[in-house]
Formats: sequence, C-alpha cells, structure tokens
Amino acid sequence: MTAAPLVGIIMGSDSDLPVMRAAAEILEEFKVDYELAVMSAHRTPARVEQFAQTAAERGMRVIIAGAGGAAHLAGVVAAFTALPVIGVPILTKTLGGADSLYSMVQMPAGIPVATVAINGAKNAGLLAVQILATADETLRAQMLSYKEKMRQQVEAKAENLANVGWKQYLTAKGYQE
Ligand code: RP5
Repeated sequence: MTAAPLVGIIMGSDSDLPVMRAAAEILEEFKVDYELAVMSAHRTPARVEQFAQTAAERGMRVIIAGAGGAAHLAGVVAAFTALPVIGVPILTKTLGGADSLYSMVQMPAGIPVATVAINGAKNAGLLAVQILATADETLRAQMLSYKEKMRQQVEAKAENLANVGWKQYLTAKGYQE
C-alpha cells in the first residue's frame, strides 16, 4: 500500500475482509499499489461520498467494492465517480449471496458496476489488473504470464489424468468411493 494507490479496495464491513483479501493478494502478486478500507453506503454514507469524489484526483484508476445483503456500496461509489467500479457480492447466510448479487448487478442504465461472482474477489483483483494493463505494457506481459502458468497447470493435470486413469486420480486426491 502507498500514499498514491492505483486501486481502491473498499468493503461494507470488516466481516467482508476474509473474502476481499483475495483481491488484495492479487494486487500484491502483480505489484500494484492499492488502498484498502472499510466504509458502508448505509452506515457511513458521508465517508463513501468523500472517498468516491476524491479517488480519481488522488491517482486511483479502479475501485473494487465488496458488500453483502442490501449491497449498495459499489453502486453508490459508481454514482460519484467516473472511475470503473468492480463489485464483489459477498455470500450471505440468509439468502446465499443472491441478495448481494442482485443488489449489485441490477444497476440502472447509465451507472455501470462490473459485478463479479459471489465472493469473486480474486477475479475482481484480476479484472482491476487487466484494466490497468490496457495502458501498461509491463502489467500486460505479467497478465499473459499468469495465464500461461494456469494453462500449464491444467495441461499437467490433464496429462496426469490421462496417464493414471480417473479412479487412481481420484484416490490420489483423497476422494473416497
Ligand atoms: C454489509 O452488511 C456488509 O458489506 C456486510 O457484508 C454485511 C454485514 O455487515 P456486518 O453486520 O457484519 O458489519 O453492509
């Protein structure tokens, strides 16, 4: 984290942090400076407004917002800034995160929020990197390496499965019949 972060990771509660940490981990892996904070569209609306209205002038390029339940944080931030906003709907106990997802994804025309999967903080981090990479060749190269590493990992698994057969493969992974 630095004084002039490129990405802002915000969340409605500290209870979202165990999920949202995945976005921070990706940004650290790609060596992207970020800021992480808790603020709530309902409990601290003035703080949210202040954050969103000053984010661009403070040098931010992307905002990732995670919230659960009546998840209005990403949408409210998007209303106050021209920066791209990525929303992470947090899994909820009562409605399985459907409440968070619908609150976040069903934005009115004119105010987009790029909503990832329920608890999809890792993809939010990756999407933020990809947005930054449109104007950063080093990041673009890093992203291509990341994808190549994934390809190799899956190819290795596919080869192992083909060699040993599915039964032995599952046994080796600890699955019981
Ligand atoms: C939302 O309410 C937060 O984003 C969180 O997912 C949910 C519950 O918050 P806490 O009651 O745990 O603070 O605003």
